[in-house]
Amino acid sequence: MSQTIAFIGAGNMGRAIIGGLIESGHPATSIRVADANHTAAQGLHEQFGVEARATNSEAAVGASMVVLAVKPQQMREVVTDLTAAIKASGPVVLSIAAGITTSALAGWLGADTAIVRSMPNTPALIGRGTAALYANAAVSADGRALAATIMAAVGKVHWLEDESLMDAVTALSGSGPAYVFKLIEVLEQSGIALGLPPALARALTLETAVGASALAASSSTSPAELRRQVTSKGGTTEAALRVLGEGGLEPLFDRALTAARDRSRTLAEEFGKP
Ligand SMILES: NC(=O)c1ccc[n+]([C@@H]2O[C@H](COP(=O)([O-])OP(=O)(O)OC[C@H]3O[C@@H](n4cnc5c(N)ncnc54)[C@H](OP(=O)(O)O)[C@@H]3O)[C@@H](O)[C@H]2O)c1
Repeated sequence: MSQTIAFIGAGNMGRAIIGGLIESGHPATSIRVADANHTAAQGLHEQFGVEARATNSEAAVGASMVVLAVKPQQMREVVTDLTAAIKASGPVVLSIAAGITTSALAGWLGADTAIVRSMPNTPALIGRGTAALYANAAVSADGRALAATIMAAVGKVHWLEDESLMDAVTALSGSGPAYVFKLIEVLEQSGIALGLPPALARALTLETAVGASALAASSSTSPAELRRQVTSKGGTTEAALRVLGEGGLEPLFDRALTAARDRSRTLAEEFGKP
């Protein structure tokens, strides 16, 4: 694969995906980047050898894929400014912005624009992300393959056939790393409250989180069954899980994810207006 890919936005996500592409063998000379802050684009040129362009349009013109890696609130202005370059070259447009729908993007860029929308997450920064992708009807099989290759450079890729599920994906895996970080924080604090030295509480918490996740991911046994296997009748784990159940952990998570899903929908209304 050596089609030209233009990145608009050289922030955390843009940098992570470019780093992943370079690591997976995509030639630096066929990656372009532009950012409102030119120093950020120049920094990626120095780090990875990719081409830094002075304006977004200069990066986009002639590219096979234009990756929109700016904040949702910056999207409308960025896309409006790119319309001429995109109409001239007909690339696939790949947006990673939360809450911006393919119809909002098509409304700004033209109804026949090939658009892929993706929701990645922050473990992409170390190549361990997970992302859901949705393609509108104008995207060809080759366009889908290129979009999947780009996101696979920083993690796992899952296609959606129903874009409305993207709000639930945002609530689960887009925001999900923060729930896991919160769980790590509270486990560590509870360990300290029981008298463990802070450094030991942190090490035990992180190693448990990483080990349990790896066990669940590598096992054909369901997470619920793995949990039952460590929950002996009358034992310590059962005592803790009873308290979590009495405290309403499951309905609490249902309410939390519903709040995140609803916020994703309102972001679409706020930043995706025609
Ligand atoms: N980070 C995450 O966890 C995560 C997860 C899933 C999805 N996303 C999505 O990924 C997108 C990028 O997030 P990020 O964390 O990489 O944000 P970021 O670090 O703020 O990067 C965005 C970059 O775009 C630049 N920019 C602003 N206006 C621009 C313009 N008109 N033309 C070109 N570049 C412009 C920003 O420059 P300034 O700093 O000068 O404004 C910044 O360097 C967001 O839409 C977000 O919703 C992020």
